[in-house]
Amino acid sequence: MRVKRICCIGAGYVGGPTMAIIAQKNPSIAVTVVDINANRIAAWNDENLDNLPIYEPGLSEVVKEARGKNLFFSTAVDQAIEEADMIFISVNTPTKTYGVGKGMAADLKFIELCARQIARVSKSNKIVVEKSTLPVRTAEALKSILDNTGNGVNFQILSNPEFLAEGTAVNDLLNPDRVLIGGDIDHEKGKEAMQALVDVYASWVPKERILTTNIWSSELSKLTANAFLAQRVSSINALSELCEATGADDNEVAKAIGADSRIGSKFLQASVGFGGSCFQKDILNLVYISRSLGLAEVADYWEQVITMNDHQKDRFAKKMVSTMYNTVSGKQIALLGWAFKKDTNDTRESAAIYVADELLAEQAQLHVFDPKVQKQQILNDLKTLNTRSEEENANLVSIYNDPFKACEDVHAIAVMTEWDEFREYDWQKIYDQMMKPAFVFDGRNILDAKKLEAIGFSVFQIGKAN
Ligand SMILES: NC(=O)c1ccc[n+]([C@@H]2O[C@H](COP(=O)([O-])OP(=O)(O)OC[C@H]3O[C@@H](n4cnc5c(N)ncnc54)[C@H](O)[C@@H]3O)[C@@H](O)[C@H]2O)c1
Repeated sequence: MRVKRICCIGAGYVGGPTMAIIAQKNPSIAVTVVDINANRIAAWNDENLDNLPIYEPGLSEVVKEARGKNLFFSTAVDQAIEEADMIFISVNTPTKTYGVGKGMAADLKFIELCARQIARVSKSNKIVVEKSTLPVRTAEALKSILDNTGNGVNFQILSNPEFLAEGTAVNDLLNPDRVLIGGDIDHEKGKEAMQALVDVYASWVPKERILTTNIWSSELSKLTANAFLAQRVSSINALSELCEATGADDNEVAKAIGADSRIGSKFLQASVGFGGSCFQKDILNLVYISRSLGLAEVADYWEQVITMNDHQKDRFAKKMVSTMYNTVSGKQIALLGWAFKKDTNDTRESAAIYVADELLAEQAQLHVFDPKVQKQQILNDLKTLNTRSEEENANLVSIYNDPFKACEDVHAIAVMTEWDEFREYDWQKIYDQMMKPAFVFDGRNILDAKKLEAIGFSVFQIGKAN
């Protein structure tokens, strides 16, 4: 079968960019992205492409090309489901904040709501694609809901996890290392559904990069791919502390280890810790699943990746305090960057939030600048922690549109996100306007420490004996 109409439920960081590329590369397929968040849909439809709800390099050009032709954003969820022959579920699957599995398991209530809505609305056969990252065997639950509450139509369930990385989403979607499609490979209808999805991707992805597997392998591969990536970050971060204590240099060590082709050089950059909506959530989920299956050692092994990441954020904040004579009370500190990584406006689980919280607990006053994150987002992130009142946060945290203003009269600057522009600043000008001694804590190792030290800064970088 050839797919003619696609519906994607969830217009977020995955649903939006993924569907924009599918539409751009398949002009004969009508793609409608729906969401219950009317503001988000309005932003996707905004004439001014600078107002798209998600910042990704290259995304606005793709949206400009396809929107209104065969790419649509809408709040009419029922209608889009009914009209589609393939439905992607791309809603959020956050960590549970209540009940059994609180703080560990993935909250699947949004997924279940989608399944019930698809079952209720569908009057014709549908292929339902899990795009969200889900615990292994979720497809079983989806099938049960769809078959038991549906109108007697046939549902084929596929798993097609998304491997894009925020900040490089467009390029990752255009040139994926692989596309993974899991389905019911033992039955003809399952195979047909898989082929229909293979054909959608084959419009631009070389066939050998489209992997088809059984559905459980596909679900589990996504969780574990994220676990492996996060594990590398925690491994190099663990080494960074060892480097600081011994005089080894983490960049040199990373280069030496990464030169081994079995290890590879990517993802070996020490930092203040990983953030983002996925790594922590997916590892916690993996730990929860392992523990539920009685696999205590497996669970403990992966949990350590999170422990190390929390430690890295904590020790960075503590290093700042101890370097500044063991007190930051009443001191002004500039945080450069709030997004969890460069080239995105996403702040979920950003290391900056946790470092800021620790500094605020020490009564520091923060000046925050990020090229793409809005003021309200920063205040919301701090509010979500529930550490202090909104008024206290607002009194202690000033948010700037100009990095030089943010750094005026501060005792210290902490680089929290690796935005390229931070490297290019006139650091002499910044130094001249700061309190002395002027401290820089480079949580991403992007600044030229020698140059800064020549200006007069005291510089701390991760993984270097200072
Ligand atoms: N962000 C990433 O880099 C990334 C990468 C790969 C996979 N994933 C996975 O993809 C999934 C989505 O992530 P995201 O970052 O796009 O999340 P997101 O929060 O940005 O977007 C999810 C959207 O779904 C909408 N939604 C929720 N329930 C709905 C419903 N019943 N009907 C219509 N809309 C509904 C929400 O309003 C929200 O806009 C998650 O499972 C995540 O783990 C994310």
